[in-house]
Amino acid sequence: MNATTTYTARAHTNIALIKYWGKKDEKLILPMNSSLSLTLDRFYTETSVMFDEQLEDDLFLLDGSKEKNDKISNFLEIVRQKANITAKAKIISKNHVPSTAGLASSASAYAALALAASKAAGLNLDKKELSRLARRGSGSACRSIYGGLVEWQEGIDDQTSFAHPIEMSRDFDIAMIALVISTDFKKISSRAGMKRVVETSPYYPAWVQNTAKDLRKLKQAISKNDFETFGEVSEENAMKMHALNMSAHPHFNYLEPDSIKAMKIVEKLRSQGVSCYYTLDAGPNVKVICRRKDVQAIVDRLSDSFGQEKVLVAGPGPAAHLI
Ligand code: PMV
Repeated sequence: MNATTTYTARAHTNIALIKYWGKKDEKLILPMNSSLSLTLDRFYTETSVMFDEQLEDDLFLLDGSKEKNDKISNFLEIVRQKANITAKAKIISKNHVPSTAGLASSASAYAALALAASKAAGLNLDKKELSRLARRGSGSACRSIYGGLVEWQEGIDDQTSFAHPIEMSRDFDIAMIALVISTDFKKISSRAGMKRVVETSPYYPAWVQNTAKDLRKLKQAISKNDFETFGEVSEENAMKMHALNMSAHPHFNYLEPDSIKAMKIVEKLRSQGVSCYYTLDAGPNVKVICRRKDVQAIVDRLSDSFGQEKVLVAGPGPAAHLI
């Protein structure tokens, strides 16, 4: 095999409403529970891949600078094995997330890489296989293969753990407002955080049981177009995840004082009749779930407290695709 054609893929980031927080298999990245997310239109990664036998090593350029990244090479090894090739690859990746947003996600990165690298290696994977492959880079990436609302079914092995889209009625009206509290790198990576929680939180078995219930309730709310229940269940599930972190040994916490301030603002708006709910991932940034008609009121209120440049509005985004 000489140099192959370059393939470029774009994948959008996703934010979980029912969180993935813990693995039952660290190597295969099999989650302890199924999860459900919304793929966003505003934030995405574009990645080009070319395999070339002349290359001595994988070459990875992220946003213009050369990076050494063993995780990426390990991921490419999976692709090479599947395609039965040995050539190293040149990867050029660009994150289209406002550079100050602190929202850059491994989800869009590995979904774009899975699509571009598998194509460049001569594989023609269907969406289910792509989702399984993206999962090996970063669990949440398996959901970014699809657009809109997406469920990652936990499965019991590599074959059965993958994502699929959730039918959402045309009038299921949803927007997400991201409030950037901090752009600092995570104090504890999601990988390390979830591992500690699985190993040490006395509440972990309750999380697994309860999250299965939350997922059922959320899917029911989607099918009934019941936005209030949808928001309530999402917010509660996020809080349970953060409570797990506080119950780990040693305990940890991603929330900052400004996260709490923003959460109180959302609660206040809600008490005033605006239907809005929050969720937070492995960091202090707050994402507000709302209907499109309420976006402006919420943006105005958050901008007053945090500054307009910290408030970013997104809607449902598309599936990963070649460009
Ligand atoms: O896929 P990872 O390793 O980046 O973990 C994602 C963890 C959360 O974002 C907190 C939850 C989720 O389901 O995306």
